[in-house]
Amino acid sequence: MSRFSGDTATAKTSQPPETVSRREAVGIDDISVYIPKLYLPVTGEFATSRGIDPAKLTRGIGIERMAVPDAHEDAATMAAMSLLELMRRSDLKPEDIGKIYVGTESAVDEAKALGTYVIGMLEQIYGAGSFQDCSTVEFKSACIGTTQALEALCYWVAAEDEGKVGIVIASDVAKYPLRSAGEYTQGAGSVSLLLKKNPRLIALEGIFGSFTRDENDFFRPMGATTAVVNGKHSNQCYLDAMQGAFDAFAAKAKRKGTIVPQDGECVTDFFSHLLFHIPYPRMVEYASAAIFEHYWQGLARWKEVETEIGAEPKAGDCESADQFLAAKSDYSRRFAKSKHFLDAFKSKVLDTTAFSRLVGNIYTGSIYLGLASLIEQERIKSGDRLCFGAYGSGCSALVFSGLVQPKFASVPKRDIFRRLDSRTLVPLADYERLHEGLKEKSIIAPSQEFALIEIDHQGYRHYGWMC
Ligand code: CAA
Repeated sequence: MSRFSGDTATAKTSQPPETVSRREAVGIDDISVYIPKLYLPVTGEFATSRGIDPAKLTRGIGIERMAVPDAHEDAATMAAMSLLELMRRSDLKPEDIGKIYVGTESAVDEAKALGTYVIGMLEQIYGAGSFQDCSTVEFKSACIGTTQALEALCYWVAAEDEGKVGIVIASDVAKYPLRSAGEYTQGAGSVSLLLKKNPRLIALEGIFGSFTRDENDFFRPMGATTAVVNGKHSNQCYLDAMQGAFDAFAAKAKRKGTIVPQDGECVTDFFSHLLFHIPYPRMVEYASAAIFEHYWQGLARWKEVETEIGAEPKAGDCESADQFLAAKSDYSRRFAKSKHFLDAFKSKVLDTTAFSRLVGNIYTGSIYLGLASLIEQERIKSGDRLCFGAYGSGCSALVFSGLVQPKFASVPKRDIFRRLDSRTLVPLADYERLHEGLKEKSIIAPSQEFALIEIDHQGYRHYGWMC
């Protein structure tokens, strides 16, 4: 067996940890995805108007299409749409749901929880008052909000003793100024997760590694409609935070005896797939290169890497600290192009980005869109251990793991590729008017969906189900 088998082919298996087997497992039972019906291709009119080589966008950034919300859509309508689909798929009734936690950084109100608007919309389907015994709260922590919500809700689900389930909703519109470097990473969409005991899809292993540091990489001051982003700095903050959270996870998993690498092994060998937050698809390549480089160093396999890309630069060989840093960064770029890394990347990470290439960034839901990508492409199997690496600007990261459950294939598919294929292309001029809030009439009149109907003189938002 190749020494790389752990990171290129089948992951190493290990006994499901006691934390999962002793108590009832808690985790993700089902997942639903809502993506707006409009899209803008980044090649063609968009690339020409911005003076950008299309190859930079499709290869350098990894994006082909961006989802564009229509005039009647916002984070609340998209959340209601993904929740409605989840309830219908899993045959859930309002009284089955104990809590709805919403992760968003596209809040529609400074005080009122987005989930209350969502409940208002769902009650138009299920009846007035049907959700009154269900509580809801909004989690704001940039793109990690949904994952923080998931962690918190798992503890509640574990303690719940009346058979109720929890829902986590991610819903966001990723929006940057027109013609900025962030513009071609925009997107919009919502993902809902059903959390319960003995889940059909993924049982979480109860190990969370975190990292937090005060940063100015990306933020949206009060009242602003687009994010302020320090682009390259944001990439570096993401990598630092992910590494920190990964190290914390690995140490905890080892302490608990869940993942105990033997000689010649490292923690990444124990994962079948690694899902990272996807602000744009190339970012997960940078993230996985950093993680694999860090964990492979010192193992026997590193000799094979060195045969391909040479030995790591040493401080003593450089004339200054700056020269050493530049040499190290150049070496990491060579590692990211090495066959060994690319094989591991293709086998364990690339497939998580399939939907993001066609949707763009959906902020808090991106990592779970990655999970949907794996599921819809039939890339997971029972017993697989998945690693989730969530990132939120500002900045924090949270790394956790889960085991694919034996009944995962009994969960119906979602037909997401076909739905993405049947979207309508929005002309550039209309996209720009929608972006600037200048288009009051919807491009596609809403039908069989929730829509924002009016914002009244007090600022209260009125939503309705459009037949
Ligand atoms: N053909 C092929 N590739 C090309 C090319 C061409 N003609 N021209 C350039 N490229 C490649 C570059 O070489 C580079 O790839 P490598 O890193 O492999 O060299 C890649 O395209 C990106 O190009 P740039 O380095 O010029 O980057 P940019 O100026 O386009 O900025 C960005 C990229 C910083 C991500 C910017 O889009 C941005 O600010 N985005 C918003 C912030 C963001 O997403 N940050 C990510 C971390 S923060 C986070 O994760 C939270 C969140 O969701 C926002």
